[in-house]
Amino acid sequence: MQPAYYEDFEEIKNKYWSMLDGAVTNRASSFRIPVFICSHKDEVDGRIVVLRKSDRENNLLQFHTDFRSPKVEILKNNNKASLLFYDKEEKIQLRVKVNCEINNQNSITKESWKKTQHISRRCYLTDSPPGTSSENPTSGMISKLEDFDYTMDQSEEGFKNFTVIKCKIKTIEWLYLAAKGHRRAMFDIENKKESWLVP
Ligand SMILES: Cc1cc2nc3c(=O)[nH]c(=O)nc-3n(C[C@H](O)[C@H](O)[C@H](O)COP(=O)(O)O)c2cc1C
Repeated sequence: MQPAYYEDFEEIKNKYWSMLDGAVTNRASSFRIPVFICSHKDEVDGRIVVLRKSDRENNLLQFHTDFRSPKVEILKNNNKASLLFYDKEEKIQLRVKVNCEINNQNSITKESWKKTQHISRRCYLTDSPPGTSSENPTSGMISKLEDFDYTMDQSEEGFKNFTVIKCKIKTIEWLYLAAKGHRRAMFDIENKKESWLVP
């Protein structure tokens, strides 16, 4: 028996949004850690990020980063990017093309920062930016940070580096692997068009 989303656009949309929504709260979900790909000129690079928010109504996905990280500089030059998801159990791949908005020290980051726990805040408290080269192997953190020896008040220092990347979805390409025959579909969100593709 094929699942309801085998050949039905509406069911496919329900399926991928439920997977995206689930990934935000479920640490075990494969969709929680997509690859985020962005590029500027000859520089194309992907890295894993944690999906922090999904919003079906507004076609948005969000993740957090450090304002000083190289990908922020890339996005300032070219805000077009892509998020790649794969769930091995479900055999579902999503290729999501997005336009990114960099949020730093504004109401959006304030809201997310409030929910960022004490232990997670230390990533934003390093002296040197992510990607800085080092003579020795390093976490980039002074030992007080490594030992979580800082107060919630002291962690506020990290707010200036805390950044929310808002990804406005343009297209979603769905691929479902099935023994009976794979199914591939394109959802053009901007133009509200759906179509089947040869897998
Ligand atoms: C499981 C996992 C989760 C990660 N989550 C994030 C994240 O949410 N945001 C982020 O900026 N980097 C995250 N990283 C680190 C990035 O993959 C990357 O190494 C780092 O952001 C530097 O990338 P850049 O040089 O392109 O800025 C994560 C890495 C792993 C392995």
